[in-house]
Amino acid sequence: MARRTPTDIENLDMKWHVFRMLVPYLLEFRLRIVIAFCCLALAKVATISFPFFQKYIVDDLDAQLNAAGQTLLVAVPLLMILGYGLARFLNVMLNEARDTLFGRVTERAIRRISLMTFRHVHGLDLGFHLNRQTGGLSRDIERGTSGVSFLMRIMIFNIIPTLLELLVVIIIFLWNYGVEFAAVIFLAIILYFIYSVMATEKRTRFIREMNEADSATSTHAVDSLLNYETVKYFTNEEYEARHYDELLATLEIAKRNNRLSLFALNGGQALIVAVAMTLMLLLAARGVASGDMTLGDFVLVNSFMMQLFMPLNFLGFVYREIKGSLANIERMFNLLNEKPSVVEKPDAELLQVTKPAISFDNVSFHYRPDREIIRNITFTVGPGEKVAVVGASGSGKSTLVKLLFRFYDCQSGKVTIAGRDIRDLTLHSLRSAIGIVPQDTVLFNDSIFHNIQYGMPDASEEDVDRAIRMAHLDHFISQLPKGKDTLVGERGLKLSGGEKQRVAIARTILKNPAILVFDEATSSLDSKTERAILQAIREISAGHTSLVIAHRLSTVVDADRIFVLENGGIVESGSHQELLAQHGTYHHMWILQQQEQEKEKVAEVQA
Ligand SMILES: Nc1ncnc2c1ncn2[C@@H]1O[C@H](COP(=O)(O)OP(=O)(O)O)[C@@H](O)[C@H]1O
Ligand SMILES: [Mg+2]
Repeated sequence: MARRTPTDIENLDMKWHVFRMLVPYLLEFRLRIVIAFCCLALAKVATISFPFFQKYIVDDLDAQLNAAGQTLLVAVPLLMILGYGLARFLNVMLNEARDTLFGRVTERAIRRISLMTFRHVHGLDLGFHLNRQTGGLSRDIERGTSGVSFLMRIMIFNIIPTLLELLVVIIIFLWNYGVEFAAVIFLAIILYFIYSVMATEKRTRFIREMNEADSATSTHAVDSLLNYETVKYFTNEEYEARHYDELLATLEIAKRNNRLSLFALNGGQALIVAVAMTLMLLLAARGVASGDMTLGDFVLVNSFMMQLFMPLNFLGFVYREIKGSLANIERMFNLLNEKPSVVEKPDAELLQVTKPAISFDNVSFHYRPDREIIRNITFTVGPGEKVAVVGASGSGKSTLVKLLFRFYDCQSGKVTIAGRDIRDLTLHSLRSAIGIVPQDTVLFNDSIFHNIQYGMPDASEEDVDRAIRMAHLDHFISQLPKGKDTLVGERGLKLSGGEKQRVAIARTILKNPAILVFDEATSSLDSKTERAILQAIREISAGHTSLVIAHRLSTVVDADRIFVLENGGIVESGSHQELLAQHGTYHHMWILQQQEQEKEKVAEVQA
């Protein structure tokens, strides 16, 4: 994965890119947004009217006090006070209405973006996923989507309206009270803005460090908990805790830096606001003293400044948060920009076959350029044939399966199904045609039933039951108090290796694909269970093209042809009998494994 460069956050292009990305989501609810805007505009008018209400109330009361020496709560101020109260209420209600209306837009956008990201991440190749940590990945997506929602709200309802409000207030001051007042406000805003931007730029690094530490911490926690059993086997709780604490400490430091820099930012902003406020009130007091301004004007100035203080404070906050959100969204979009290395051709064809031949044609493959795993392999599985590939652990057997599934593309040669290069087929039809019982079966944290039904999500209960019987799972399930509704635990950890493999077999039976692949499907079974499973495999592979991959040779004796893989190349091939007669690698493996089995049997008898 390409590391993102730290400077991306400061990059303005990035911002526009993100904003543009959001536009389609806004257009989905045009009317709603227009109404929300009307609410916003009316609310702003109400906000700007407050200081005027206050001014007229004070001036009125003051005038009466001067005229009569006492105050009567007569019609005019009473009406003003009622109007003021109403305006206050309307202001709040309109803002609430605006948020409620717009809420739907952001909620929908989050739904769409989350789904898009989810699909995209699923579309990335296995290589990407093996390099990524799931905990950190989901955290990135989560932070990214909440960043999007924030940015949308802020962009529409805070930045532009706040700037407009500032402009209106400056004009009001210029018009009613002269250049001095307007100039003080104007300068204060400019200063405030520049300071906020500069201080926030400095903070960006801390925010990023904090996020990285946050991801690292949760990644570690998830990974460590997933490996719960391993941790116990090696009594490494202390080691895990210590490592976790180191990460937590980094996070703590990052948070402290973040907090301190926030303090500096807020402190500076408060100073600018306080100085501006004081200056304005001094100017107003001077005006009142010289008789140019009324008491009401003084109240108005004070009131406007208080009101300005709020959105101004918001401006700094908004800038800060936008920076933070952009950093988060950027991570998510980086994820979205990640290109899968296995891609479907635009004119990819559908694969629809019943008993296809498979062939590996001079295939070479490596995960990393410095270590070749498969070297110039050529072999064919005829239509309906059962072909086995055997070899020592690490010789590249499972890699062949990954190539067939197109989790990776080979660097040279080609893999064909029914004579067609798998790179010319749609990924969906290719993978639908193949059923696999993998070496390590990982299950969803759901019931046995659902895990099996996953092979064909719309299968009926009868079909699932039939698959259960064919996979010889019925006996096991009948022993469970909850039967097939038993939950299998995270990744299927509550089942034994053999039970998981049988669930995988049942799943594959249900899928009923044209090609069957068994990758060490009996590797974690004892001989007795193995025999049962082999029987099941034999039953279901009849009539299918099947590829059996095994380290244990007892699994493959009945194969039509056997290829022996060594160091990424095929060294021998033939039927079981032919290979034994060759007295080569296969023969050697066979003798060794026979001896082992003898020992096992003796041990079983003794036990
Ligand atoms: N994603 C990967 N990246 C790098 N090396 C890998 C990857 N997957 C497997 N390998 C290496 O490729 C070799 C063959 O692996 P594999 O095909 O799983 O062997 P096996 O014959 O036991 O099934 C092994 O040495 C393994 O370490
Ligand atoms: Mg393997």
